[in-house]
Amino acid sequence: MKIGTPKEVMKGEARVAMTPDSARQLQKLGYDCIIESGAGDAAGYNDATYTEAGVEVVKTAEALWKAADVVAKVRPPTEAELKKSRDGQLLISFFWPAQNETLMKMAADQGTSVIAMDMVPRISRAQKMDALSSMANIAGYRAVIEAGNNFGRFFTGQITAAGKVPPAKVLVVGAGVAGLAAIGTSTSLGAITYAFDVRPEVAEQVESMGAEFVFLDFEEEQQDGAKTGGYASVSSPEFTAAQLAKFRELAPDIDIVITTALIPNREAPELWTKDMVEAMKPGSVIIDLAAEKGGNCKLTVMDEKIVTDNGVTIIGYTDFPSRMATQSSNLYATNIRHMLTDLTPGKDGKVVHNMEDDVIRGATIAHEKAVTFPPPPPKVNAIAAKPKEKVKELTPEEKRANEVAAFKAQTKQQVTLLGIGAALVLAVGLVAPASFMQHFIVFLLSVFIGFQVIWNVAHSLHTPLMAVTNAISSIVILGALIQIGSSSMLITLLAALGIFMASINIFGGFLVTRRMLAMFQKS
Ligand code: NAI
Repeated sequence: MKIGTPKEVMKGEARVAMTPDSARQLQKLGYDCIIESGAGDAAGYNDATYTEAGVEVVKTAEALWKAADVVAKVRPPTEAELKKSRDGQLLISFFWPAQNETLMKMAADQGTSVIAMDMVPRISRAQKMDALSSMANIAGYRAVIEAGNNFGRFFTGQITAAGKVPPAKVLVVGAGVAGLAAIGTSTSLGAITYAFDVRPEVAEQVESMGAEFVFLDFEEEQQDGAKTGGYASVSSPEFTAAQLAKFRELAPDIDIVITTALIPNREAPELWTKDMVEAMKPGSVIIDLAAEKGGNCKLTVMDEKIVTDNGVTIIGYTDFPSRMATQSSNLYATNIRHMLTDLTPGKDGKVVHNMEDDVIRGATIAHEKAVTFPPPPPKVNAIAAKPKEKVKELTPEEKRANEVAAFKAQTKQQVTLLGIGAALVLAVGLVAPASFMQHFIVFLLSVFIGFQVIWNVAHSLHTPLMAVTNAISSIVILGALIQIGSSSMLITLLAALGIFMASINIFGGFLVTRRMLAMFQKS
């Protein structure tokens, strides 16, 4: 079968759904690849790079749609493009079925099967095909770069001979994929970063990236992200009011606002109002990633950059991933390639459109001449962090009482252990010779000290502890080597066992350390 990628027809779209690298991988699945001439130019891949990767370059879109069995593209097809499609052909692209019902029906009527990349369910297994996330990640990064480009100061604070520069203050509203990418980029540039989301479970992720989560003094029932497909659900009017009051309080102090708040299949909630924009300092910047869905900021104009009367720049571009076309094409083409891997279980270049598969079913919106959207809910839960249990703030007296109780429990445990040890020494002492008792007491004391040391070491220090236990294991091996030549079979066996166990610790330690180091190595 042939997989083909046409040149994107939408003005300004620079991404391409097949890269030379992804084409090589698709060929390993048994497919032949074709591409329309010039399709990769804007993403940095000319026709020659495709030919080199074994891809056939065809001159026109007509030729491509005619020859391909599977068409992979980025943007939803236009009506004219869809007319080029035929019965039995598979189209894989973003589609936004809720907004493009007519096109979806047209595809179903003419027998084109459609897999919408924006419908891939957010479950663990499908992460590698989650094109929305890979594009949102780029958009979040690019939003900060765009903000920096329009902001007249450094992100990081500096003290120089020429004067003191305060750090920029950045507020990210919505800590989903795009929001988290924006937070990471902003903190790494040195800005003081705040973030807000209606899902309190993301507070931990926000804080782990070096930003401060903006908490509201408001009690709202926790949302179960797993039940809503990993997305937020609509907040109550009271919650929204509290949220807006908080933003109003922050507005005069914030230099850059990046809004990414979205609930799927809804207009973007209006969270940054006109009076908040007016309260901001001249030179401040707002990047509204939700511009395409109406914008989170009241004054956003889609696809435009405007400057308000009080000097605030508001950017509503909807093509951030396309502004980094090489990077986004690489990630998108990889998402498509993973989708095709799942569609090709036999690795024989033949598509098996298995509607029993949660991911394939979820993303298929037209198949066998029928509209198959909306899909049934996935059988497995979406990825959503468990909501953090609310921990009651303790008074100093309660904290002290807890510490005393914990100390008492620990002392009791130690006394019990010592008691058992003493009883064991006494019992063995009655029957065993004195030379054995000497070793036995050392052994018992070692067990006691070892237990206390390991149990009381914080988890974060377990890696250095492993290094110490490696040193102890070497001593064990030395001792066992001395004993292994003993005339007693039992001692020889015990020594061999000791060498074996200590070797596991040493070599296991090396393996674990290597794996950990590999995680930090740049490939
Ligand atoms: P996402 O669904 O992962 O994240 C949205 C976040 O907004 C969620 O964490 C949700 O809890 C939060 N949220 C919802 N309502 C909220 C409220 N009232 N207040 C605060 N937070 C709220 O979505 P993702 O993938 O991060 O995309 C974010 C936005 O970026 C979307 O609007 C998407 O269309 C847009 N986008 C824009 C691009 C561009 O070029 N302009 C490119 C890619 C994505």
